[in-house]
Amino acid sequence: MTVTPGSYTYNATAQGPVPNDVNRGGSTGQVTLTFEGVNGTVYAIAVYSTNDLNSRKIIIAGDFTVVNGVARQVEAPGASRLIDVLREELGLTGTKEGCGEGECGSCTVLLDDVPVNACLVAIGQCDGASVVTVEGIASPEALGVLGQCLIEGGGAQCGICTPGMMVSAHHLLSHNDSPDEHAVREAIAGNLCRCTGY
Ligand code: FES
Ligand code: FES
Repeated sequence: MTVTPGSYTYNATAQGPVPNDVNRGGSTGQVTLTFEGVNGTVYAIAVYSTNDLNSRKIIIAGDFTVVNGVARQVEAPGASRLIDVLREELGLTGTKEGCGEGECGSCTVLLDDVPVNACLVAIGQCDGASVVTVEGIASPEALGVLGQCLIEGGGAQCGICTPGMMVSAHHLLSHNDSPDEHAVREAIAGNLCRCTGY
């Protein structure tokens, strides 16, 4: 759907609970929807002007982050860590936390096709961005070539580093289909494995 930025006012009846205002549905009044285009992202903000919801401002659509190809929306403080939002809000527990301070690479995900440490990224930095986690690359049912190679090569023991390794390797192979050893070493230099090679 294409939305043209602008303001649109409707007479409306709230049919049920509205975000941040549960149990206050059922009121009638005017709703003004304001759509703004910012950096290619469309923000939708509803201003309610009703009997009991007087000029309340609530975000009804917010801005979307595309996670593993699916547009997702979460309500979380902008400073929340991406890893926490992925694991706790979106249930994507494939991303693992090792050090929690940007040293180990266990939490590596792709943010707009750039490998980042999800423990150091605030969700506020992900507005309108594309995030790819290990779940977007492989699943237990479909491990893919990378997952299979890790198993066959004994590359996973406790498994904490494995998702980050896979994301980094996937990023390398999606940009270079025949990397030499130097390129491989460079691509996974930020991913530490405490169980195997360190
Ligand atoms: Fe993020 Fe170690 S958990 S870099
Ligand atoms: Fe345990 Fe790599 S398999 S840290």
